[in-house]
This record gives sequence, C-alpha cells and structure tokens, in this order.
Amino acid sequence: MEILVEVRRQHSPADVPYYQTIKYQAASDEENVATVLRNLNATPELRDTENREVGEIHWQCSCLQKKCGACAMLINGLPRLACDTKLKDFRENRLLRLEPLKKFPIVRDLMVDRSIMMKNLRDIANWLEREATLTDKNEELAYDASRCLQCGCCLEVCPNFEVGGKFYGAAAFVPASRILSELPKARKYQLIKRYKKRVYSGCGKSLACHDICPVGIDVENKLVNSNAVAVWRRFFSNKKTENP
Ligand code: SF4
Ligand code: SF4
Ligand code: FES
Repeated sequence: MEILVEVRRQHSPADVPYYQTIKYQAASDEENVATVLRNLNATPELRDTENREVGEIHWQCSCLQKKCGACAMLINGLPRLACDTKLKDFRENRLLRLEPLKKFPIVRDLMVDRSIMMKNLRDIANWLEREATLTDKNEELAYDASRCLQCGCCLEVCPNFEVGGKFYGAAAFVPASRILSELPKARKYQLIKRYKKRVYSGCGKSLACHDICPVGIDVENKLVNSNAVAVWRRFFSNKKTENP
C-alpha cells in the first residue's frame, strides 16, 4: 500500500520551516505512524517527490506503547500519539501529514519543548506530602488521573492555554485532581484554594480537551473540583459579609 508522507521540516528554531513529501510503501494499513517514521529514517539515501535529499526526521519516542506521551505530534491536523495512530485511520486520502505540536516551542522537525508542563506542576506543588490513602470513594478517580502521560495533546486544543500563560490547562488539573482525591477534606480545600488561580479559574469548560486525550481520561470528571472552588469562594465571601 503506497501512501504519501508530508513532513514539516525545521532544522532549528531560527530556520524557516518547509515541507517534504515522501512516497512510502507500507506493509499494511495496520502500521502505525511511529513505524512509518522509523522506516523512513532507516531508508538509505531517501529522496522526496521533488528529488531532494531527506535527512533524518527528528521526532521523540520512548515506550512505543502509548505509555510515555513523548511521540505526541499533529497527525493530519490532530494532536495524537504516533505510536497509537494507524494508517487505516487515514485510509481515504492516503496522505499522512506530520507536524509538531504548535503550542510549544519548536526544537527540530517534529520535536517540541514541553518542559513547561513539568514547570507548571512544580509551580502548583503537585505532590503528596504524606502517604496516600485510597478508599472505595477515591480509588477510581485517582487511578484514572494517574494515567496522564503529560503528552500535551489537551493543551494543543485548549483555547485558554498558552506557554507562559496564567492557566495551566488539563495537563495540570488532571494530576491535581489525583492529589486532591487522596487528601483529607480540610487539607483538600486548602489546596483547592491554592490551585484555583492556575488550574481552575481559567478554564472556560469548552471541553475541547475531553475527546482529544489519547488515553481516554475522563477530563470532564476531573473538573469537578473547579465547581468546589466556586462553592468555597461563595462560602468565604458569605463569611466575610457575616463578620464584617
Ligand atoms: S475544558 Fe476547555 S478551557 Fe478547560 S482545559 Fe479543557 S479545553 Fe481548556
Ligand atoms: S490529560 Fe490526556 S491529553 Fe492531557 S496531558 Fe494527560 S494524557 Fe495527555
Ligand atoms: S512513544 Fe511513548 S507514547 Fe508513543
């Protein structure tokens, strides 16, 4: 099965990007995009459809099993994991367009710098200070949130997230919801107050992030704490009015 692979090339952040289209013979439409990239990079003296040399295509991967999030990129315009996207998903036009995620600073070709996600998690102190207590009530939410790969696909589609902006997006409130689910009530509401500025207040609830998550985390359900923020804000402002 022959397909055309169109790749956005950029040798460094300072270079002007361009596209190369490469003919590729796939073994079957069950092949995934990660395999396509590995095969292209393993082909000696590869040339594009304009007979230009195709140097190594830079992209990131680690697990190749949908476990690390490193291979997130735009595949035919949608943020997806290369190791979890098969050619049969795009059978109709037989054109595979590969581009880097656009919300993050470019490093090279399909590689971007997603360190902002770790920086943001550090900023909201997204860690437990003592051993977690899992119960029948919080186990499901904690487990679901723990599956976050920090891939950044949700941030790519979020209208309210930008690198260096005030709102940290689903890649922050999903892990935050896990921490919150494991805390006793009093400590939980202290932390929600701390989280609200960066994690909850900026969310417009458009839920663009909900369907795009490659591991299918129930992102909407993780926003439940943002409603708690609203309730507690009302509670505290009522208290102030009662005790002027
Ligand atoms: S619900 Fe909308 S605004 Fe909120 S994190 Fe998801 S995409 Fe962004
Ligand atoms: S919530 Fe989903 S899309 Fe967002 S970073 Fe985590 S795994 Fe990726
Ligand atoms: S390489 Fe780890 S998720 Fe794709």
